[in-house]
Parts: sequence; C-alpha cells; structure tokens
Amino acid sequence: MRANKEYRLSFTEEARKIVEKLTLEQKVWLMCGNIDVTQKTSQQLGEFMMTILEGENHYNITPYAAGGLEEEGVPPMLFVDGPRGVVCGNWLSTCFPVSMARGASFDTDLEERVGRCIGREVRAFGGNLFAGVCINLPYNPGWGRSQETYGEETYQIGQMGAALVRGVQEEDVMACVKHFAFNQMENARFKVSVTCDQRTEKEVFLPHFKDCLDAGAASVMSSYNKYNGVHCGHNRYLLRQVLKDEWDFDGFVMSDFCWGVKDTVEAANGGQDMEMLWTQHFGPKLVKAVEDGFVPMAYIDEAALRIIRTILAFDKDHKEYDMSVVACPEHIAVAKEAAEKGITLLKNKDVLPLCREKTKKLALIGKLAGEAVIGDHGSSWVRPPYVVTPKEGLEKANQDCQVVWNDGSDLESAKKLAAEADAVVFVVGYTHDDEGEYVSAEENTNYTGSVGGDRKFSLGLHEDEIRLLQEVGPVNPKSTAVLIGGNTILMTPWYDSVNSVIMAYYPGMEGGTALAEILYGDVNPSGKLPYVVPVSEKDLPQVDWEATDQYYEYYHGYTRLEKKGIQPLLPYGFGLSYTTFGFSDAAARKQEDQVLVSVKVKNTGGRDGDEVVQVYAGFENSGVDRPVKQLRGFQRVSLKAGEEKQVEIPVSLEKLKWYDPVCREWKLEAMEYTFYVGSSSANEDLITTAIQL
Ligand code: BGC
Repeated sequence: MRANKEYRLSFTEEARKIVEKLTLEQKVWLMCGNIDVTQKTSQQLGEFMMTILEGENHYNITPYAAGGLEEEGVPPMLFVDGPRGVVCGNWLSTCFPVSMARGASFDTDLEERVGRCIGREVRAFGGNLFAGVCINLPYNPGWGRSQETYGEETYQIGQMGAALVRGVQEEDVMACVKHFAFNQMENARFKVSVTCDQRTEKEVFLPHFKDCLDAGAASVMSSYNKYNGVHCGHNRYLLRQVLKDEWDFDGFVMSDFCWGVKDTVEAANGGQDMEMLWTQHFGPKLVKAVEDGFVPMAYIDEAALRIIRTILAFDKDHKEYDMSVVACPEHIAVAKEAAEKGITLLKNKDVLPLCREKTKKLALIGKLAGEAVIGDHGSSWVRPPYVVTPKEGLEKANQDCQVVWNDGSDLESAKKLAAEADAVVFVVGYTHDDEGEYVSAEENTNYTGSVGGDRKFSLGLHEDEIRLLQEVGPVNPKSTAVLIGGNTILMTPWYDSVNSVIMAYYPGMEGGTALAEILYGDVNPSGKLPYVVPVSEKDLPQVDWEATDQYYEYYHGYTRLEKKGIQPLLPYGFGLSYTTFGFSDAAARKQEDQVLVSVKVKNTGGRDGDEVVQVYAGFENSGVDRPVKQLRGFQRVSLKAGEEKQVEIPVSLEKLKWYDPVCREWKLEAMEYTFYVGSSSANEDLITTAIQL
C-alpha cells in the first residue's frame, strides 16, 4: 500500500498545510540529520567520526535521526543501514547472504521475503527507513562494494532491487535506493568524476534505479562521486531533471553520509532534499542562503513537502514489531534459504554430491574454512548472534565423518592430508580486508583494522591460494574449491586442478549450513552466476581505481565479451545442478505492451531441482549498435524429477528499446527480435524463437 504512488500523493494536501505553517528554520530542520556539527573544525569532525565508529558503540548501532517536528505531527526519519540485514544492534540481527549471493538466486519472490524480514527488524529496532537497496552496477568486478549489489546486468539488478523495495515497504518501512548514480569505484569515490555517453547513461547505468522507483521506493541516496564533473549530491541534471522531472519521483533524496553535500547552495539548488548524517552545510547555512536569495524558498518548500508527505504516508498507523522478531527462527530460515538458492555450482566432474557413507575423513583446507565469511566491515556490516562457518557446517552435516582442518599454509602437510582423505574441500577467496567499503586502517586505527576498498591485487585469488589449488588440488580427484567473494573471481590458473568448484559468495549467518547441505546433496544447487567469469582480466573494461576521471564504455561484462566474440570461462547466468533440465517449444507472442515468451522446461534427471529460466533478447537485425543479446526476463521454476512445466515470461516492450541520443527519446525498433531461452547466456544452453515487432 505504502509503495502505491496514489496512496502517497493522497498525503500531499495534509503535508502542504503543515509546510505552510512552518518557519524557514523548521523547514530546514526537516532537511538535516539531527547531529549538529556546524561548530566543528575538520579535525574535530574526524575525531567525532571515530566516536561514532569505535568499539561496542559501533556505527548505526541505533537508528540515526533526521528532521522530525513532534509539535506538528511530523515524525523523524530513523535511518537504518543494510543491505545484508539490519546494521543496528550488537550481535542481534539476522545476517542474510550479501546481495550478490541473493542476486545469484534470481528469485524475486525470495528477495521480497528477505525484504519483509528486514523491514520487520528495522521496525523492531525503532527505525522507519532502510537504506540497504544498493543497486550500483559493477562496471568492473574489482569494485570493492560489488557484494552489496545483485549482479552485472541492469535488468536483473532492477528486478531484484525492486523486490527488496516491495518487501521492506510492505512492512511500512521506507526503502532508500542508493547510490545515485555511477558509484562503482570505491577508493576514488570522493574524487572521481565519471563520464559516459548518453546511451551508456540511459541504457546501462540508470534503468535499474527507475525500476526500483517504479516499484515505489520512497527515497534515493545520492552518491559521493561526480558525474560529468558535478557532485552527484549537487547534480541538478540527475536529481531534478532525471529523477524528479523525467521519472516523476514523489519521494525525497538524501545525501550519502557526511561528505555527500559539499556546498550549501549547490546542493539545495541541485535538488538535494536532506543532508545526512549530520547538519553541516544545511542547517543555519541553508537558512542564510535562502535569506540572502541564493536558494529559492520554493526549493525549501518542495523538499519539506516531499519529506513530510513521505513520512506521513509511512508512519501513520504503521505496523509495529518488538525485538522478538529480530533473528527469529523464521528470519534465520529465510537467510538459510537465500544461501541455499544463491550458492552456485560451477564445475562438477564426478565429485558432488558427497556420499555420507563413503566420506569418513574429509580434508578441509584453507584459512577461510573456520572464518565467519559474511562480508565487509563497512557500513553494511550486520552483526548476527552467530555465524555458521564452513567448518562448523561440515562437521554438523556428517557426524560420522572426521573433518580435519589444515590452513593450507604448508603445502606438504596439505598434500599429505588430501591424499589420506575421502574428499577434499578447499575454502579460498576474500575477506573484508581484500574488498569492501574502504575503511583505511591507518586513519581509523580504532575502527576494525579492516581496509576493504577495491581489489588491489587482481581479480584472481591470492598467490598462495592459487598455488595451493594448483599443487594440492590434483592430489585427490574428489576435490572441491569453494570460493568466497563478492563478484567474479578469475579461475583460469587453477581451474583444471580441481574437479569441482562452488561459488559461495558471502553466504550469511547460515552459510556454513547451506554449503554443507549442498556438498552432501541434501539441497540441490540452483544458483546462477549473476556475472560473467572471463578467462582473462583484459577481457573486461579497465578501470583506474585511483582515477579522478573515469570514462565508462557502453559495453561491460558478458555483453562486452559477446560483442567482441570472446569466449568466457563461464558464461553469465551459468550454474549447475545435480539434475539436468531440457527446454523445448519456445514461442513468443505480443500482448499489449509485452512480449510473452513461453517455453517448456523439463527436469530430465533423477532429482527434484530448481532451474532459472532465462530469456535474452537478440538484436541481430538492429540498425544501430546494440548488444548481441541481453537478459530481459527470468523465472525460477521448481520441478520434480521427470516433471515438465510450461512457463511464460513477460518481456516489457520498454525493455527492448534503445535510447536515441539525437532525438533524445527511447525507440522501439520495428524489426524481428530473436528470443533466446534457456539455462545460461551461452548459446549452447539456449533455444530460440523470433517475433516481428
Ligand atoms: C555509504 C552508504 C551508507 C552510509 C550510511 C556511507 O559511507 O556509502 O552506503 O548508507 O554510509 O551508513
């Protein structure tokens, strides 16, 4: 209901009446985080930030307040961060798999349920605003915060983000979509200016934001970086023209924290509605800027109206939850389900599933096997009451099996162990030091000691882990490499050294349980890669992670490889199962503003399982430069062994259009479109049908 625009607009009159009564100071108060730092020097600000981050009193341990005028019946915004759950509280809340793992499930229904759990926990902690819908598109997978988004494909990110928005808002919590826009470089996020051409902007980097707003997101967070030389938090083109005018967004914009607003007048005139986390450039400076005529009063009225209207729409008679919902069994079960459906089987030459009876001794090798691998230590760090590590998961899953752990630092002892064992599981990959939100250990010695940032080495594993897999992998044919990380990990140097590979991402508090269930076959794997795995780094667009200027090309990820005719190691959308699926009878018909693509999918193997049916649109007949094909629909289907179902997947005509930069409009080309339907983006996994539009 609260996602419904008409419902929200029905509060416009009430909000307007309140705005009319307010003084300039009161209106500006609504536009600010409640922490006043206007009197602090920049050094004091740094010190103050540390008090927010230090020790037990961690960042966002309770919701951060902004605005609020009790006497006028306007509640404050109470900000809670995500996306892998609720950041508030100390070791209390449910930690879901990171968004990238959830993206790999391609399950919008599940993501909506994750959103509902999160919404309930936000309310239990006293919050009303969840800023965990992170939907930036990783232009290069080395982006440190890739784990917070859903994949490399705008369509899939948009669908998954919209599902999270729906779920969270279903519980009467405002969803904030971030970071608007072009925020896919971490270390340089405060200085980089991104440029790209109009088509790249409109077709690649913005559509997923629109999808989330169309799903009713109440709020948008502007990003730190610049777009075309202008700070995104001040960016009149992005905030006023695109967001508020072209997309008719009725909610409010907030800045990214602390450094998202740099100039009072530019930000307010650019369309920024709220300075977060603190009051530095808004507050008294904004009042003065209005009084001196640098910022029109109309902009202040507009911001106040947006803020009041949205908070009234969400906070009137809202649902309430107490702390009993926080990490309750139902929410933890959803976290486990998300891990089970996201973890992706990439290679399996007669290794998996492991047979319990035959696995009496299991060699578990690698530093990460005993670690709580739940993701980075930045603003999305959720503290759950417990985390099941891979080691704990495997120990519990087969109590007649001796699990012997070796950290892999000594290759000879690892080889000896591997040779003696019935099966070997390596757990390798990244930690919060390798990738994530950038938290400089030098500057913030009291914070976590974690560094994060963009991947500094390469897109592959650390050298010692590459050697480990190369040398110890071949010792035992029943070897599986389990990868931990937030995005593509290159596998070429060691791919042939192990007979089985699993991508586990950062699988959340129940990740160890889900992983063990998959290894032993209690759960049939069904995740699909939400990104391509190239053979070589040079197949991807290059980024200078320290750049002050970065140009984004139109093609990235699988569309780039396909356009250049480069074979990937593993295609976008790829993931194996312990059963097999077959596709037949693809057909396409037009119905109003959609093409309905239907196909029969059959479970042709001996186990029940889920398949993600993918629909790619092909543009062979286009008169302009377009990708070879693009994902434009998907649906997860559960099939019993031997069962066949007909599925029909709608593809919106809007999603088939291209943006003509000369006429400045979206165009649907009149031509024959090919639809590729199947289990991954590789042509051998797809069948085709065509339709003239
Ligand atoms: C991050 C945002 C986050 C905000 C508040 C910033 O550093 O970029 O994603 O929502 O902090 O926690």
